[in-house]
Amino acid sequence: MEVAILGGSGKTGRAVGAALARVGVATRPLGRAAFADLPSSLSAALAGADAVHVIAPNLHPDEPGLVAAALAAARAAGIARVTYHSVASPYVPAMPHHLGKAVAEDLVRRSGLDWTLLQPCAYAQNLLPAARAAATTGHLDVPYAVDRPFGLVDLDDVAEATAVVLTRPGHAGATYELGGPALVTVAELAAALGATARRIEPAADEHPWLRAMFAYYDDHGLPTGGVPLAALLGRSPRPAADVLAGRSCQPCPPALAVPDDERP
Ligand SMILES: NC(=O)c1ccc[n+]([C@@H]2O[C@H](COP(=O)([O-])OP(=O)(O)OC[C@H]3O[C@@H](n4cnc5c(N)ncnc54)[C@H](OP(=O)(O)O)[C@@H]3O)[C@@H](O)[C@H]2O)c1
Repeated sequence: MEVAILGGSGKTGRAVGAALARVGVATRPLGRAAFADLPSSLSAALAGADAVHVIAPNLHPDEPGLVAAALAAARAAGIARVTYHSVASPYVPAMPHHLGKAVAEDLVRRSGLDWTLLQPCAYAQNLLPAARAAATTGHLDVPYAVDRPFGLVDLDDVAEATAVVLTRPGHAGATYELGGPALVTVAELAAALGATARRIEPAADEHPWLRAMFAYYDDHGLPTGGVPLAALLGRSPRPAADVLAGRSCQPCPPALAVPDDERP
């Protein structure tokens, strides 16, 4: 089996590629060059793959257009299986980049392909630079309210779940919300690090879509359920506090190798 990963050279794509490699699946990481000369470049890049995992770059101005091109290329290449890396709570009109994923999800559902949608919460790893700074300053600084609930998730758990969905039967037509094991606030995470959480102002030149996201986080956080991820992994997801503290997943069991006769 070989999985083409659109966005495979990015942060998420590298994690997914590593998770697939751990279960013995060949991967074809693809970057922006695959989109350089549409539609031929993408169809050629996907030719011969058994499945395609679609990850759009961060804050792409037209994510539905990118996903539509990916779906058309998959069909042209005769690939029946597609998974799409969406986001938790995609239909939030106040967050344009979430809304783009909601529109793209609709395209995937109507693609005629065997699809699965993955909706991860924000990665716990996003807070690592702030956590490292907190070790020196004693302050965990974020540009949104520190007392709102998040289902922060370990990117490596998301990647492992993606590998499960791509390599085990029974996931076509499914939409999985992927949150960590419990809702947490930044204040709680700071306390676990022996630091104090502070809300700071977003950078003056911050992307307007990220400003919109921080404003939404100020009011609502991003609560996300953790049950689907635990079910996919067959274990509890790694807590965000462990990610920030650099504690390994042990004794979490390793990903199961997939017997050849169980691969789709
Ligand atoms: N960070 C989070 O907490 C979080 C949570 C949920 C969902 N997500 C979603 O995860 C996705 C991936 O995020 P990431 O941080 O992994 O992204 P990333 O590291 O920025 O990776 C971007 C990937 O997209 C490719 N790319 C860049 N510009 C492109 C273009 N114009 N057309 C086609 N491909 C292009 C890059 O290829 P090159 O190497 O050739 O540049 C690279 O493979 C985003 O859609 C984000 O919304 C993120």
